Amino acid sequence: MIGSRNRAQPRASRPWSFSGMDYSESKKKRNFIGKIVLAAVLTVLCIYMLKNSSGFSTPSLFSRHEPGVTHVLVTGGAGFIGSHAALRLLKDSYRVTIVDNLSRGNLGAIKVLQEQFPEPGRLQFIYADLGDAKAVNKIFAENAFDAVMHFAAVAYVGESTLEPLRYYHNITSNTLVVLEAMAAHGVNTLIYSSTCATYGEPAKMPITEETPQAPINPYGKAKKMAEDIILDFSKNSDMAVMILRYFNVIGSDPDGRLGEAPRPELREHGRISGACFDAALGIIPGLKVKGTDYNTADGTCIRDYIDVTDLVDAHVKALAKAKPGKVGIYNVGTGKGRSVKEFVDACKKATGVDIKVDFLSRRPGDYAEVYSDPSKINRELNWTAQYTDLQESLQIAWKWQKLHQNGYRSSLTSSF
Ligand SMILES: *[C@@H]1O[C@H](CO)[C@@H](O)[C@H](O)[C@H]1NC(C)=O
Ligand SMILES: *[C@@H]1O[C@H](CO)[C@@H](O)[C@H](O)[C@H]1NC(C)=O
Ligand SMILES: *[C@@H]1O[C@H](CO)[C@@H](O)[C@H](O)[C@H]1NC(C)=O
Repeated sequence: MIGSRNRAQPRASRPWSFSGMDYSESKKKRNFIGKIVLAAVLTVLCIYMLKNSSGFSTPSLFSRHEPGVTHVLVTGGAGFIGSHAALRLLKDSYRVTIVDNLSRGNLGAIKVLQEQFPEPGRLQFIYADLGDAKAVNKIFAENAFDAVMHFAAVAYVGESTLEPLRYYHNITSNTLVVLEAMAAHGVNTLIYSSTCATYGEPAKMPITEETPQAPINPYGKAKKMAEDIILDFSKNSDMAVMILRYFNVIGSDPDGRLGEAPRPELREHGRISGACFDAALGIIPGLKVKGTDYNTADGTCIRDYIDVTDLVDAHVKALAKAKPGKVGIYNVGTGKGRSVKEFVDACKKATGVDIKVDFLSRRPGDYAEVYSDPSKINRELNWTAQYTDLQESLQIAWKWQKLHQNGYRSSLTSSF
């Protein structure tokens, strides 16, 4: 574990991610004291959570099925989408167990959820690695899950081309581990996080669920393989499966409790919304729009941006409609494409910062236009995107970003 963190270190020292000149001595000192306080807080928190996790408390509410209570295992629940999903499930009175090894997720998100739902039997956090089949089996043996929402994954297209094994390992092979544990312990409902990247570069827009899947990068391929494993398995079992193929996820909790906080060293792989906020905060000098000569109305790429609040709503609806022996595959998007130029304008308005934009030539491997046809999920799950105002979604996310410039860390230290 420690090894993997160390390996990630060198990338953190990219020049633009830390602009040392801005920091005065006193700020450095404050930062240092802040770090010590943070370390102390984290230690206490870890002990607290360990005490509350299944291993320590005798017979836990999480270990037996309770009529009328649906216990959902949320893998990757400390991550961006997983934490938002956990929050929604808890609000809707589900019992939630989060499994996350915090390699990409945030302990701060778990802390927020624990504070919101401290009652016994609501939320449990288990620190574990889904690559560790023995650990996963133990978790399934000790807990009575009714359903699994499998979010945990690595999810950067660029990174996937640089480190394909990391993607096949942590997406495809970890999904297999989860599926085997589900089969071995009779957990029958799976809601799987997939992606529009499994379609590759379709000739025809919009993308329906019938659009042939021909992924063009290891991220999309790893997700497609995981889908195939799930589908093959479901043919000979009575598993209830829902596969949700996400388009470009943006936004954050409208009440400002949760946000998106990628590891600093991963920012360079990040998504356009992250880059927009980093530019608005002055962490990076500006935005680089790559490609202005695509065959689209304004020449920039077109994507379908789905707000995370709508996305987790799709998960809850999928869970409610999941049926044994049935598979549902759904695109989750708004059905409306937005150009990068539109996105940048919305970002400037949402942040109130006149972000500097450089228009550059195309990035290899980018496709001009991707947007969904969400009519199947509208029809079958009665789901429709509600947060379709790009500027509003970005405004909500920006509010959190501004208050949490060090991700969840700043909220942890400021509470002391
Ligand atoms: C977390 O899990 C991944 C995926 O299996 C694993 O490879 C990685 O080393 C783990 N990292 C930590 C910090 O435990
Ligand atoms: C993913 O898998 C690789 C093995 O290929 C491992 O080294 C890495 O730490 C894993 N975890 C993450 C979060 O990438
Ligand atoms: C569909 O959802 C809407 C709200 O989004 C709700 O008012 C309506 O009753 C739902 N219809 C069905 C058939 O559940």
